[in-house]
Amino acid sequence: MIRRIGVVTSGGDAPGMNAAVRAVIRTAENYGISVMGIMRGYHGLIRNEIFELTPRSVADVIHRGGTILKSARSKQFTTEAGQEKAVKNLQEAGIEGLVVIGGDGSFQGGLALQSKGIKIVGIPATIDNDIPCTDFTIGFDTALNTVVEAINKIRDTATSHERVYVVEVMGRNSGYIALYAGLAGGAESILIPEVPMDLDDVVARIERSYELGKAHSIIVVAEGFNGDLGPEVQSEQSPAFRVGSYVKERTGFETRVTILGHIQRGGSPSVFDQILASRMGEKAVRLLMQDKSGYMVGITNNEINAVGLEYALAQEKQIDLSFYELAHMLSSS
Ligand code: ADP
Ligand code: F6P
Repeated sequence: MIRRIGVVTSGGDAPGMNAAVRAVIRTAENYGISVMGIMRGYHGLIRNEIFELTPRSVADVIHRGGTILKSARSKQFTTEAGQEKAVKNLQEAGIEGLVVIGGDGSFQGGLALQSKGIKIVGIPATIDNDIPCTDFTIGFDTALNTVVEAINKIRDTATSHERVYVVEVMGRNSGYIALYAGLAGGAESILIPEVPMDLDDVVARIERSYELGKAHSIIVVAEGFNGDLGPEVQSEQSPAFRVGSYVKERTGFETRVTILGHIQRGGSPSVFDQILASRMGEKAVRLLMQDKSGYMVGITNNEINAVGLEYALAQEKQIDLSFYELAHMLSSS
């Protein structure tokens, strides 16, 4: 029977991480397992920033954004020496299993620890929703709500001034936020890394809308979108500015660009994320209690399940193209 586990939040933070930490601690307490918290991700693990957590340590955090355990990225942890130091610190603290709350990079780090004898379970938490074998990651729903609230506000002013607005959302390699927010927010065009899109098609959509009497347009662009925008606009870094310049030049319409940035990572987790994090946290502890290591908790068709971490990371998260087609169909008249 496992007696002591650790919990760490790592990589980009996501709303709902605190609710997951709380669920881990309180589930463990319920079964007589003590929990150590590792501060600042793998960076803190190497520096031995390990503290005992009690059920009271997570009072009043279920609804708080960010992570009380802090997060960080660590280059040192990707080295053999860094990982050995991390394992030594975990062993000296008596930690027999570790719950890693984070994204795919954090899970790769978890697998490295597992290969050195530490039991690992991953809980997917990233606003990007780019982890395979789970319908949703913790934080995605909250970020989506933040983005759609912003798009709704932008729509008010876009309509008043009859302008084209380009809204850039997060998603380094993933178009999930752009796709779902574009559908919910009625965007006229959605540009995501997974779907090649000719910018002239975007221009044609705007012009067709104008002919139908719609003098404003909203284009949602994922930060990872990389369309071929021609040499004249390649110099500007952000895809939103590149798309904005292209559209303005080709259509002559007044165009504005908004980059939502890190606002998408903050705020209180949505009810959906609070519930998801609570369910996933409980499942992670149960897996460790069953002596299972190398698993990731996921949610499929509203069922919480477990899938091999190595298998999950080898898969590609698919975008549901029907969402893409639906969004464009619904906004084209
Ligand atoms: P996320 O978990 O959100 O994807 P990162 O990709 O930044 O975030 O990963 C978080 C940390 O996990 C990194 O700073 C690094 O210390 C560790 N990590 C990432 N990839 C690996 C890897 N292939 N092997 C070992 N550790 C890794
Ligand atoms: O959490 C994922 C993510 O939001 C990506 O979409 C984005 O590119 C990245 O994190 C930015 O993170 P940071 O500014 O912390 O490096």
